[in-house]
Amino acid sequence: MDIDAIKTQIEADIQNINSLQALEGFRIKYLGRKGIIAQLTASIPSLAPQQRQALGQQVNVLKNKIISLIEEKQKFLALPILGTTSGQVDMSMPGIAQELGRLHPLTQVIAEICTIFNRMGFSVVEGPEIESEYNNFTGLNIPLEHPSRDVFDTFYLKPQTANGSTGSPSLEPSRAKSRDRQTGKLLLRSHTSPVQIRVMKSRQPPLAVVVPGRVYRPDAVDAAHSFMFHQIEGFMVDKDIRFSDLKGVLEVFAKAVFGKEIKMRFRPHFFPFTEPSAEVDISCIICKGKGCSVCSRKGWLEILGSGMIHPNVFKEVGYNPKIYTGFAFGLGIERIAMLKYGINDIRLFFENDLRFLKQF
Ligand code: PHE
Repeated sequence: MDIDAIKTQIEADIQNINSLQALEGFRIKYLGRKGIIAQLTASIPSLAPQQRQALGQQVNVLKNKIISLIEEKQKFLALPILGTTSGQVDMSMPGIAQELGRLHPLTQVIAEICTIFNRMGFSVVEGPEIESEYNNFTGLNIPLEHPSRDVFDTFYLKPQTANGSTGSPSLEPSRAKSRDRQTGKLLLRSHTSPVQIRVMKSRQPPLAVVVPGRVYRPDAVDAAHSFMFHQIEGFMVDKDIRFSDLKGVLEVFAKAVFGKEIKMRFRPHFFPFTEPSAEVDISCIICKGKGCSVCSRKGWLEILGSGMIHPNVFKEVGYNPKIYTGFAFGLGIERIAMLKYGINDIRLFFENDLRFLKQF
């Protein structure tokens, strides 16, 4: 057998191979028990002694070459080549389009609302979801025994037990106020209002801030409720801030989100951290105020809570309430998004079903 002829044959054979099955046939043909290499090896003893070594070497080189050709081809065939099972590229196949990701509808609404307030001079600040009892309640003029705690009161965290003792956990141990240490409890914040305390304690007026973020409440989950949802808090503090400033800012916001035709009304309400307080309704965007099932035939939809920041809150953060006044408001993002897009079940936001998410 002529070694050179075999080499040429090998190269021609391997070129034509385009499946693992064909490759196995190739392996058997050359490296099998009765394959060409075996035949060559078997012929060695019958050669003249001088030729034995030379052929032995040539056969070894050839064998190694075949092995590496097989390995190479194997790797090539294993590559995931789209559109074929044989490993060949089918140039006529259409490409597989990369699916574009997108922002979650709630993220989009948060961005839209923050942009609206940004244009009015508000900056965006975030606070932690794990809060001290002090920032969530006491600092906001909601004392321990206050009944309005009930709707909020849940999701306390177990105190940390580093080094075995039931230590008193605190977010900022060195700066914690005495009242903080009194309770020392941590909880999942039930509203974004505690960020008022954080911002006002670390900055001086004038300030205008919006705070988007998650909040947690002991609500059973149904079409309208979730134990976790999102709020945007907004507040402005300076000398001479009035209720009319609150009205103006909220009107710009509501018209930017729901359209210029929207009407607003302020209903007296109570929050411990604002005085006076108001809940704000917009005219129903479905029936335009005539009364329908979405607005429970009232013609109005509640969208947020608001008011003038209570002097006790200012005292708590070290602002002089005789010098400074301010307003605050808090709105639920899911509610705004549901009204804006006509979504009738809050759970859709959190199930992450692509058929829902892809619509935004
Ligand atoms: N924190 C209140 C709530 O979650 C909303 C609110 C914020 C009311 C700011 C007044 C001022 O219900």
